[in-house]
Amino acid sequence: MARSRPMSPWTLFLSFVVLIACIVVPGVTVKHENFKTCQQSGFCKRNRALADNASAQGASWSSPYELDPATIHFKDGQLNGILIKTTSTHEKIRMPVTVSFLESGAARIIVDEEKRLKGDIEVRHDSKANKKRYDETEKWVIVGGLEVSKSAKLNAQTETGFTNILYGPEDKFQAIIRHAPFEVEFQRDGETHVQINHQGLLNMEHWRPKVEHKEGESPEEEGTWWEESFGGNTDSKPRGPESVGLDVTFPGYNHVFGIPEHADSLSLRETRLDPLPPCACIVANHDNRGGPGNHEQPYRLYNSDVFEYELNSPMTLYGAIPFMQAHRKDSTVGVFWLNAAETWIDIVKEAANSNPLSMSAHSKSNTKTHWFSEAGRIDLFVFLGPTPQDISKTYGQLTGYTQLPQHFAIAYHQCRWNYVTDEDVKEVDAKFDKYQIPYDVIWLDLEYTDDRKYFTWDPLTFPNPKGMQEKLDESERKLVVLIDPHIKNKDDYFVSQELKSKNLAVLNKDGEIYDGWCWPGSSNWVDCFNPASFPWWNSLHKFDRFKGSLSNLFIWNDMNEPSVFNGPETTMPKDNLHFGNWEHRDIHNVNGITLVNATYQAMLERKKGEVRRPFILTRSYYAGAQRMSAMWTGDNQATWDHLGASLPMVLTNGIAGFPFAGADVGGFFHNPDKDLLTRWYQAGIWYPFFRAHAHIDTRRREPYLISEPHRTIISQAIRLRYQLLPAWYTAFHEASVNGTPIVRPQYYVFPENEAGFAIDDQLYLGATGLLAKPVVTENTFTTTIYIADDEKYYDYFDFTVYQGAGKRHTVPAPEDKIPLLIQGGHIVPRRDRPRRSSALMRWDPYTLILTLNKKGEAEGSLYVDDGETFDYERGAYIHRQFQYRDSVLSSENLGTKGAKTAEYLKTMAGVTVERVVIIDPPKEWKDKSTVVIIEDGAKTGSIAVLEYYEQESGKAPYAVVKSPNVGIGKTWRIEF
Ligand code: GLC
Repeated sequence: MARSRPMSPWTLFLSFVVLIACIVVPGVTVKHENFKTCQQSGFCKRNRALADNASAQGASWSSPYELDPATIHFKDGQLNGILIKTTSTHEKIRMPVTVSFLESGAARIIVDEEKRLKGDIEVRHDSKANKKRYDETEKWVIVGGLEVSKSAKLNAQTETGFTNILYGPEDKFQAIIRHAPFEVEFQRDGETHVQINHQGLLNMEHWRPKVEHKEGESPEEEGTWWEESFGGNTDSKPRGPESVGLDVTFPGYNHVFGIPEHADSLSLRETRLDPLPPCACIVANHDNRGGPGNHEQPYRLYNSDVFEYELNSPMTLYGAIPFMQAHRKDSTVGVFWLNAAETWIDIVKEAANSNPLSMSAHSKSNTKTHWFSEAGRIDLFVFLGPTPQDISKTYGQLTGYTQLPQHFAIAYHQCRWNYVTDEDVKEVDAKFDKYQIPYDVIWLDLEYTDDRKYFTWDPLTFPNPKGMQEKLDESERKLVVLIDPHIKNKDDYFVSQELKSKNLAVLNKDGEIYDGWCWPGSSNWVDCFNPASFPWWNSLHKFDRFKGSLSNLFIWNDMNEPSVFNGPETTMPKDNLHFGNWEHRDIHNVNGITLVNATYQAMLERKKGEVRRPFILTRSYYAGAQRMSAMWTGDNQATWDHLGASLPMVLTNGIAGFPFAGADVGGFFHNPDKDLLTRWYQAGIWYPFFRAHAHIDTRRREPYLISEPHRTIISQAIRLRYQLLPAWYTAFHEASVNGTPIVRPQYYVFPENEAGFAIDDQLYLGATGLLAKPVVTENTFTTTIYIADDEKYYDYFDFTVYQGAGKRHTVPAPEDKIPLLIQGGHIVPRRDRPRRSSALMRWDPYTLILTLNKKGEAEGSLYVDDGETFDYERGAYIHRQFQYRDSVLSSENLGTKGAKTAEYLKTMAGVTVERVVIIDPPKEWKDKSTVVIIEDGAKTGSIAVLEYYEQESGKAPYAVVKSPNVGIGKTWRIEF
């Protein structure tokens, strides 16, 4: 977010832009005082204090939670029982626990509180707040994978005081449940990988009545139990303290990844400073803790509009995915903390050799994590891998895989705050064509609306929105417009009237419509937790209600954390009430995706009978958002550091299951110079979501405005993205069926290569073998690329050869060059003819790029469909496996037939492979001049020309098969 005055007329605006362009913008930093530190958050402080207390007591600390053996019941893959918490006053608090062993190999532990479950508590201040712990997060997040395993069984070998369950593939997994104190140890093949409550930090703040103390005599610990103030706002906390906490230890694991969104490294850092636990086993890593490179604060997940956010920070940002992967050589495991309330996560590493429980020979550390949330129940999934791919797959079964987007959505998006008139939009559109720079989507920010009333157009500046969209449609381009969840509180605004008359707004703690301040000034918020909000929101998107919108218009949902300028920590008060009388505290982190969900439903069928894949960009998100939307990293800055930070942020999102991610190319705040902008485009083409965006106060920076040679360099970068769109779409498809990231970090591709685990400045595009290392520092004209294995890697552009495992290779990176290698052993599909938009490439032929591995073989794949409808679900797609082996390149079908297959193949019948480029072919090919081509069904082969090109030393020779013209949807062989 960036605060700004209301929109001024067009002329005023222009003069304003000119004025601003002359001002040197000073450096900016986040306003720390607007956001809580752990010490300023009651439950965070309490849970950390518990951890400090536990480690201060060392071996004498014992968790006060016991599983009552008399209550244990195991049936059909599920264990039920009652945990008893013994308080300091010897009260026994009952907490039902369920451990489910899922068919997918994941395990799930749920702990709730009996009293709150039964509604047997008193809520203060006459609040209507729901008495239960929020148990509906899964309603928004989980879409499958919950089938319990029929084959999970009690292990007969179990010693007394324990209940052990065998589960997972071939019973290789085991959960060892210790009753007193309660602890669960998860083993794979007899080795412990995940420990729950091993540190004894399980905590469920049970309900208790408020005891009125005499003034000044309240015990200090109660200070934040019943009321909490921050930045002039007071949270009435009608249900008192109710936080939940749990420790999760990964013995033998040195790296943990995930839990976006933070502007931080891919490999997460330690987060605790002092007080240091005196226990001998932890001192080993003493010097690191909170020291150089580490954080002093836990990673926070509380979706927030953080103005001018800082880098290398565990501060919360706009989205939250409480999913973590722990990785060590040859093993990946993970946990998913399904809780929608404010959450913090502490990470501490200790030397593994001091832990007698660790049997790992490979790794140096145990990673100890501590998770705590302000409200809700404990709901934890445990994944035992063993590969990162297994984790992505199993996690995706639960929260859903990435939506296969419309094809335009993976191309280039041109945005700024704001294109100011419909004529302005048309002019930008024409300029892209004039300078022959491809783009697919132009965006309208806030100011297209009439006075910041969504679903309307400013009549002065956008008098003819339809004409504008029709113009864009001539080159099959799209328009995306901003629709935020705050509704201007104005009597004569039809959306506001309906929101109120239909009772669909979020309420304040007293049950009245909540009023806050956002872009339109006084605003109310649609409560998408209310099922009735869906049909209403749906109706607003219909062409006859959102007048002036056409079917090439798509939606950007912003400010959905929600951002409230005058609210505590720039969001809603926690005691606000949502549908079902859930407090905002209970649901805050899923709030954003409820809106996206409603928008997704609305976009599915705007025209009766015409179902199209929605495209929605969201700023706020939670696990599951990947099914419906793309995300971007919000309001970054035009600095080299922000450019650098975007790569680990995008990579982290990918391994957290939400890979359709990007950052504002060019930086949102301030004006990038030409070098920074150029490098940003060269990096941005590797974001799955590739959009340039800029703040209203910045100078115009559309790529055609940049002087030469930068204009050409930027155009070439964008064209490279377009050339590789077939590979990108294939990677998106893969993400949509098995959860693998679209761009992948080093550890994910080489999970056995320890030296690469922390690398987060280079990335792989899907399974293509393309390895990019964007330049993200100023005045840098060479870079190094880390290569893990001993295959040959070739420069993508000139075929320079790099080889040598486990080291960094120096690669030239002049400003007009993107450091990009391709590993031996791959076949990469691309399309080489430049067009104005990706849709216009629909019928273009393909080029295949082939590199051989050490065995002289190669493989790759291609997925294609209409890029628009859901017909692929009925077989309307092409999915090919390319293989080169024994001097034959072949294309085999990977798809299965459906009702629409034949029809689709017919439309694609004329689309062929126009060229095959073989980098570093066998030497004997020098003497060959033809290849034989055999298309499926053909009786005889045909002949195509093969040309062989020598190159100077250091650069691999290459060969080209000219015009093989084999059908892209057909089965064929090329014999060399
Ligand atoms: C928020 C968004 C930014 C947008 C602005 C105006 O700051 O993050 O992208 O331009 O709002 O709508």
